[in-house]
Amino acid sequence: MTELVQTSPGIHPEALAPLADVVFGEEYFAKPYPLYDQLREAGPAHRVTAPDGSMVWLVTRYADVRQGLADQRLARHPRHNTDGYAGIPLPEELWVTLATTDPPHHTRLRSLINAAFTRRRIESLRPRVNEVVDELLDRMAEQEHGADLVTALAAPLPITVICDLLGIPEAERGTFRRYTDAIVGTDREASAQGCRDMVAFLKRMITLKREQPDDALITGLIEARDQDDRLTENEMVGMAFMILIGGYDTTLSMISSAALALLRDPERLAELRADPGLLTGAVEELLRFEPPVQNAIRRFATEDMEIGEVPIPAGSAVVLSIGSAGRDPRQYGCPARLDFHREESTHVSFGYGPHFCPGAQLGRMEVGVAVHKLFDRFPDLALAESGELRYRPGFTFRELSSLPVTWGNA
Ligand code: HEM
Repeated sequence: MTELVQTSPGIHPEALAPLADVVFGEEYFAKPYPLYDQLREAGPAHRVTAPDGSMVWLVTRYADVRQGLADQRLARHPRHNTDGYAGIPLPEELWVTLATTDPPHHTRLRSLINAAFTRRRIESLRPRVNEVVDELLDRMAEQEHGADLVTALAAPLPITVICDLLGIPEAERGTFRRYTDAIVGTDREASAQGCRDMVAFLKRMITLKREQPDDALITGLIEARDQDDRLTENEMVGMAFMILIGGYDTTLSMISSAALALLRDPERLAELRADPGLLTGAVEELLRFEPPVQNAIRRFATEDMEIGEVPIPAGSAVVLSIGSAGRDPRQYGCPARLDFHREESTHVSFGYGPHFCPGAQLGRMEVGVAVHKLFDRFPDLALAESGELRYRPGFTFRELSSLPVTWGNA
């Protein structure tokens, strides 16, 4: 059992009394929100043991999470860490990526991919996203009366879209999923091996694209490297790695959680069916309600600072809880209820500040198209009654392992 080893200064000790043990285990993976509710009410930041055994300050309230995501004193480069966090041993090619750099280095790296993610560029992918979803749903309908929605739709859609975006050949896409699954799992060794395998895979892709250039993103990065020397060879590998990892699990998780949330809330589903104009607002609300990135990537305090009046010593690892922020009643009325009419979309489910998700528009589009077409094509879609739903163990990502569904007359 993991203990809350150090109470947050500035919090009334009585408020912490029920929090003697904070466990990020099976119960948390299946249902994180009750624990967030407790922690958020007890205080704005808590020293807890993450599932990998490392100590972090978990920040729970919306205003602090949003501010923390943009706060330059919370850096991503691990050199600022004196909190004993070892992370997983990464191959050299991944030491310098969007995930581990801070402005101005990070700003240079981001500028290299911005052109690939403009709103117009992403909108131009819509016909292809429609086509892929239609094909996947056709195949799903062949399975007579039931399927696993993760395998049938939520996983293959983002893989196809990202691989298209990067220019990964069809035949290589199965290998890519195997490596990604290992990387995002909780087994440290498997994760480290997955990173090494993925780096070798990407280097092979880069060699291939140098010989056979196309108009996809890896070729664009090669041009920025070879013609203008705007990034190093390792930075190029790291960039492709981040896009593959950033766009796969997140979107997979969001499509399956969105479908689950709607299947569990027939009134909201009926409302959405009756007025497809609600789709944009519904996707934003579903992102708030079930964010795939539950806890933002670890940051490190570069100086002594305060978060919500809790003193955080320099060098501490800080985790900003996006999942908790989305359910903060200080920000959202009735946060445990889906409401497609909330006045404005303020969620931080794509992050905020310099690391704001570059794939946000693409993610929104994939989720919107998938949800709309799924319920249109299968009007009587229902959850299969086959026991408890299982989530993959994880602290950063929340992801259903499978989502069995049935239908009668698809
Ligand atoms: C619903 C889908 C998605 C969600 C919820 C999501 C969420 C996020 C979040 C929360 C972050 C910031 C993490 C932090 O600051 O700690 C992030 C960063 C990132 N995302 Fe996404 N994402 C999604 C889709 C995508 C897609 C489709 C791509 C690319 C094809 C992508 C690529 C990235 C990359 C490269 C970063 C790192 C940015 C940086 O550090 O500068 N994401 N995403």
